[in-house]
Amino acid sequence: MICKITKKKIRPFMSFGKMPIANGFLHKKDFKKEFFFKMEVGFSKDISLFQLNDHPKPKLMFNKNYPFFTSSSNYMIKHFEDYSKWIKEKYFNNVKNIIEIGSNDGTFLKNFKSKRINILGIEPSKNVATIAKKNKINTINKFFSLKTANTLKKFINKTDIICAANAICHIPDLTDLIKGIDKLLSKKGIFIFEEPYLGSMYKKTSYDQIYDEHIFMFSVSSVKKIFELYNFDLIDVKAQKTHGGSMRYVIARKGEYKIKNIVTNSLKNEKKANIDKLKGCLDFKKKCEISKKKLRNKIFSIKKKNKTIAGYAATSKSTTILNYCGIDNRHIDFICDTTKDKVGKFTPKTHIPIVNIKYFRKNLPDYTFLFAWNHKEEIYKKEKKILKKTNWIAHVEI
Ligand code: TYD
Repeated sequence: MICKITKKKIRPFMSFGKMPIANGFLHKKDFKKEFFFKMEVGFSKDISLFQLNDHPKPKLMFNKNYPFFTSSSNYMIKHFEDYSKWIKEKYFNNVKNIIEIGSNDGTFLKNFKSKRINILGIEPSKNVATIAKKNKINTINKFFSLKTANTLKKFINKTDIICAANAICHIPDLTDLIKGIDKLLSKKGIFIFEEPYLGSMYKKTSYDQIYDEHIFMFSVSSVKKIFELYNFDLIDVKAQKTHGGSMRYVIARKGEYKIKNIVTNSLKNEKKANIDKLKGCLDFKKKCEISKKKLRNKIFSIKKKNKTIAGYAATSKSTTILNYCGIDNRHIDFICDTTKDKVGKFTPKTHIPIVNIKYFRKNLPDYTFLFAWNHKEEIYKKEKKILKKTNWIAHVEI
């Protein structure tokens, strides 16, 4: 495999086998048309970058029916409020132009709405972009790229803030993305983004963060090294609880801002934990294999006792867990989810039916697999009434 940044040859260190598109929930009539790819991961030693090998064309994933709406989680709505407050407190100096890459339904940008500020969302998935537009968030329905940046005349060299959340790790051509950012940012402009954090994935063995859309798993070490290649500094970082552990990165043009101590300290910590080297990957691989064995044993022993299992939340992450561990509709009767687009469909490859939450509450299984383990607090609160009537399980500690 080839490193997507340095273009040097690297060796995949782990394979997850044949995977479907993680968000490819489908109707029965489409079972025969499913798309699969071999999911492998590799590590670029030069820039400490954990990355996917083969991946389906993004147009297959972020199409007109991308089934995720940011506003479907109250926790995420609150998170984006806090994120925008943090930006306003720390990096808001006479801001006129703000862009969000992967702006989804506009939940984040909404927090910046003001008569003085031009905001622009760039969102490739039509259904979510349409909702943003309905909510009066200026949005263009396109993939972000240098080509797109070149068309945004009002924003070229004049953008004070470019932000993103859970979007940058989805973009395979990072070099082109950085060139686009370079085109748009003003001299003092900053690029702020947050993504699931490699260090958290290692700590929790939450390998379910790895799926077709997550092409990169970033760390402080990798982000610093990547952006240095293009004359940018990593000036600030902040750990986040979202998505089971994320990191926020702040990037600025070289020499324009002082680099915060937290960056240096985080780099030291990553070195100590081997997050900047291949050894971290190999340790993680071993932990994944142990986790897989444990989960399979647990599921098989529940089934042996003739007990029922259902899933809670048909997440993209669940596609990796189910397919990597060989768990399917023989073991899990249904998965409930709040997303209308998913209900009535089946999980990719494992073909487990997806039902609404009401159905789950009425047909409580003996065991409930919490696929949205990262939203545990919100879900447990919501399910107070039935919480003790089923046994909650997950592949990570919950
Ligand atoms: P998320 O962890 O963001 O998933 P992904 O792995 O897909 O990035 O969870 C989003 C999914 O979880 C989405 O299908 C909606 C579902 N969900 C519920 O069904 N109920 C809930 O209370 C929450 C928070 C999510």
